[in-house]
This record gives sequence, structure tokens and C-alpha cells, in this order.
Amino acid sequence: MQPAINSAMRYAAITAIGRFLPDERLTNADLERIVDTDDEWIRTRTGIRERRILRDPDKASAYMASKAAQDLLEKRGLDPEEIDVIIVATITPDMFFPATACLVQESIGASNAWGFDLSAACSGFLFALATGAQMIESGRHEKVLVIGSDKMTGITNFEDRATCVLFGDAAAAVLLEPDPGECGIIDFYQRIDGKHADLLSMPGGGSLNPPTYETVAKGMHFLQQQGRAVFKYAVDGMARSAEEIMKRHNLGVDDIRYLVPHQANQRIIHTTARQMGLDSDKVILNIDRYGNTTAATIPLCFADRESELRRGDVLILVAFGGGFTWGSCYLRWAYDGSKVVGKEAEVRVAAEL
Ligand SMILES: CC(C)(COP(=O)(O)OP(=O)(O)OC[C@H]1O[C@@H](n2cnc3c(N)ncnc32)[C@H](O)[C@@H]1OP(=O)(O)O)[C@@H](O)C(=O)NCCC(=O)NCCS
Repeated sequence: MQPAINSAMRYAAITAIGRFLPDERLTNADLERIVDTDDEWIRTRTGIRERRILRDPDKASAYMASKAAQDLLEKRGLDPEEIDVIIVATITPDMFFPATACLVQESIGASNAWGFDLSAACSGFLFALATGAQMIESGRHEKVLVIGSDKMTGITNFEDRATCVLFGDAAAAVLLEPDPGECGIIDFYQRIDGKHADLLSMPGGGSLNPPTYETVAKGMHFLQQQGRAVFKYAVDGMARSAEEIMKRHNLGVDDIRYLVPHQANQRIIHTTARQMGLDSDKVILNIDRYGNTTAATIPLCFADRESELRRGDVLILVAFGGGFTWGSCYLRWAYDGSKVVGKEAEVRVAAEL
């Protein structure tokens, strides 16, 4: 179905970014000491060199989400009481309820906000962005905080070499506000399909398989993945989503400043870019430093490249995740990042690159 784009609509633009990365790095060499794996296998199959982990057992996704939100508020000089809505995309909430959004609200002092968590695995940020954008477009809200936060080590089985090398912990946040012109989220294309729900899931802990000695013994509270099968669907889903959104808007590769893909596997990203006919210098990649941080990957890409982004730059976001969930977003960047990113942040990002 073609999107109904109203020329009189107001666009929801990303106007600020914040992020949180735990200090501790888990390198491929560290993993060699935990499971039967090696640096070369991990680098060539996934592109990952290291990931960040939040080891403190008293801190989890809500803590990281709050830190990312505080980073954003400070950079933007915004009073938390101005926030209308907090949406947290996560599959690793601190607990089933209360929602992570409630814990973030309290922690940052957003006393006039409502909000909720959104569960769409690796497409979580994309789905949350589309949800938040429509709250701005409708005219009902002025400031929506969209956060992707996942403490993946909380659901990772460090005895399973096929999955434990893939994931990391992190959070990143964006602020959505109405744009005075025609920048912001222009369109999105998203899909879900539960046919292959069992290929990537965490089967235990919900109402179907509540925790018992047996579910724990069977490892049902850990993420489980049929990697090779998921790989195939991920390549197809990401490439088709990008193609669909570009076709809808007659976009060619020359129009695109950056492809901002979910960072699950460097090979999936390269294949997607190749199918789009896009040069690698137009693809944002940071999987080598952070691994797959699920809902945080796309906003972490924004944070890495904020200083380079200019008003009007066309970005195509794509993601694929468990469910399956997948989709794309056509975004016109709304501000000059070089004016926002301070010297300290530039040095911090450069040191990591
Ligand atoms: C997980 C993934 C990296 C595995 O790569 P792959 O090339 O498909 O590898 P396979 O799973 O086919 O395994 C190949 C071999 O490597 C082995 N292997 C798996 N993990 C390993 C590791 N960490 N170190 C060394 N060997 C490993 C397997 O046991 C298998 O050995 P075998 O051939 O003797 O049976 C890849 O499938 C992938 O990225 N999948 C999609 C992830 C994704 O996009 N998820 C959705 C969004 S989160």
C-alpha cells in the first residue's frame, strides 16, 4: 500500500542525540578464553572486534537508557519536564513490569511524560521511531524521547559460541520534535511475520514457559538463534525494505548520504548495500566496536557520525530482527551536527574509530 503523504503535514525530526556505552570492553581475545572460538572466525564471519558489557549486576537497560537520555538532555540543554513521551525499545527490560520507560521517567525527572516499552527485537528502534514520529505528526505532542536500550549480556548464554560472540550492551536516544520545514521522518515501511518466530527467540520467562528449574536447566531464558537461517532472511528483508522505500520516493543511490543499517553482521550489511548499488563509504558501520546491541545500534550510528550530518542529508535506515520484524525509514536529517557536537565529544568519538 502506498503511504498517504499529506503535503500539509508537519514532519517529526530528530533534533538531538545521546548515548551510553559501558566502559568495559569484551574483546575477541577475551572470548577465546571463555568458549571454543577465535578472533579470525569472529572477525571474518561477523565483523566484530569487541563489544561493551555492563557487568554491574545492579544496573541494566533502564540505567543505560537513563544515561543516554541524560546525555541528550545535557547536550541539548533541555529541561526534562518538557518531555511529553518516553518510548523505550528493548527486549531486555529490567523486568516485565513496570516498564523501563517508567524507570527512565523517574530517573531523569521527566515529570510531565507518559510512555511505554516497545518490543520488536533488532527492529525495535525503527518501530519506536515510527511510533514517536506519528505522535509529533498528529500535532498531539511536541517532544518525544525515543530510546533503544539493551543489556544483551543479561540474556546471552556464554556457553554457546554461536551466539555469545555476537552481542553487546548499550543505549542511545533521540529527541523527536516538529520540523519547521520539510526535514525529519518522511516515510517508513515496516513488517512483521511470526511464521519463523522460533528461529530467533528467548523461549522462557513469559506466561507460556514461566521460570522453573527445568526451563533454567534447558537454557530457555537465553537468546536462541538458528544463525544461518536468520542470515538469509535478514539479507532479504533489509535489501527489500531499502528498495521499497527508495522506489516509493524515486530515490537513487546518488541521493543518499548514508545507509544506516542495524548492526547484526557486517556481511549482511555489505550484501544489503551491494544489492542497493551503494558504495561502502555511504554505509555507517560500527559493529566492529560495539557488536549487536539490538535496539541501540541505529541511534549509536547517529551518535558516531553526528558531527558529519547536515540539514537535508538523506538517510535510509534498515533493520531486521526476531519475530520476524523488519523495515526501513526514509529520513531527512534536520540539523548541522558540527554545531552541536562539542570538542570533547568529537575527541571521544575519534578515539574510538
Ligand atoms: C551467527 C552467524 C555469524 C554465524 O555465521 P555462519 O557463517 O552462518 O556460521 P554457521 O552458523 O553456519 O556455523 C558455521 C560453523 O562455525 C561454527 N561456529 C559457530 N560459532 C562459532 C564461533 N563463535 N567460533 C568458531 N566457530 C563457530 C559452527 O559450529 C559451524 O561449525 P560446523 O560447520 O562444524 O558445524 C551468522 O549466521 C549470522 O550473523 N546470522 C544472522 C544474525 C542476525 O542477523 N540476526 C538477526 C538480527 S539480530
